[in-house]
Amino acid sequence: MERRTIGAGALAVGAVGLGCMPMSWAYSGSRQRGDESLRAVHGALDLGVTLLDTADMYGPFTNELLLGRVLRQRRAEAFVSTKVGLLVGEQHIVANGRPGYVRRACDASLRRLQTDVIDLYQLHRADPEVPVEETWGAMAELVRAGKVRALGLCAVGARGGRRSGAHLHDATLRQLRRVQQVFPVTAVQAELSVWSPEALESLLPWCAARGVGFLAAMPLGNGFLTGTLTPGEGFEPDDLRARHPRFTAEMMAANQPIVAGLRRVAARRGDGVTAAQVALAWVLAQGRHVVPVPGAKQGRWVAENAGSVDVRLTAEDLRELGGLPAAQGSWD
Ligand SMILES: NC(=O)c1ccc[n+]([C@@H]2O[C@H](COP(=O)([O-])OP(=O)(O)OC[C@H]3O[C@@H](n4cnc5c(N)ncnc54)[C@H](OP(=O)(O)O)[C@@H]3O)[C@@H](O)[C@H]2O)c1
Repeated sequence: MERRTIGAGALAVGAVGLGCMPMSWAYSGSRQRGDESLRAVHGALDLGVTLLDTADMYGPFTNELLLGRVLRQRRAEAFVSTKVGLLVGEQHIVANGRPGYVRRACDASLRRLQTDVIDLYQLHRADPEVPVEETWGAMAELVRAGKVRALGLCAVGARGGRRSGAHLHDATLRQLRRVQQVFPVTAVQAELSVWSPEALESLLPWCAARGVGFLAAMPLGNGFLTGTLTPGEGFEPDDLRARHPRFTAEMMAANQPIVAGLRRVAARRGDGVTAAQVALAWVLAQGRHVVPVPGAKQGRWVAENAGSVDVRLTAEDLRELGGLPAAQGSWD
């Protein structure tokens, strides 16, 4: 597996990471199986997919516990990336950026992950009640204490980012400028995919100019860009796509030309290349500081996604993908 470095501290990881969220959170709960997920994580490490992205809120907590079962055997092979700052309640998710909470949450993550150091500790969302400098300062203390190697910031999500009518990443850029005054940012995590390319405008260039790594979340468009989802089939009630504006039967049908474009490029490559691999190759082509973290709970997807590093898109492929219609359906 090709290696990429994230951040000025030159942390090296496999060019494709693994988003562990679907193993315990967000998608079709009835298909989440611990043993299959454990095999998928082991399979990832076998293939050189070293960056394992999780969060304390996935599950909540069970995703980190699952990873801990692998890390206690294979810690040296993995790059552990987790998140702090969001708490799951009965019906809602709340931010908590108080320094005391951050310190306790980090110790709890270390215990669940069965490790004594987290490679990348990311602020999941800033707490509107706490100046972000205070939260970030507490995270910086964790680096000084040797519990964390580097810090990352997750972008304000699409719902929050678009509400103001401003550019999607304006609020994230403001936060980045503030936290950089306190302690260096090693990586930014934000959505980036063929159907959500907004980060290319300002966030990706901001990172590139400062030697900050970029973890591309949702690089497969929550599964849509793989072409394996059927419009109108519906989702389980606990699946976030059941309420996502791009996943109504109507919008999924309207966005099929995007999948068709990915399939066209894949067919041109031959060798069994898939739409999912082309979608990931497009993300990989956006800069050497970019590491996609496709989510998957099945080993076969992990292997297929790892194979995207070998799909080198030509200038013609990139032009064709860049010219695909914009996605329909948004949180606006
Ligand atoms: N910072 C944040 O706020 C934030 C937000 C969202 C996500 N993330 C991170 O980003 C990661 C990736 O995002 P995501 O999981 O939401 O979306 P994604 O990577 O765009 O898509 C994941 C979905 O695609 C399916 N899939 C994966 N590979 C496939 C393949 N080769 N063929 C067919 N289907 C495939 C998975 O199916 P199965 O479930 O069946 O395996 C899963 O349902 C997450 O795991 C998480 O670590 C971060």
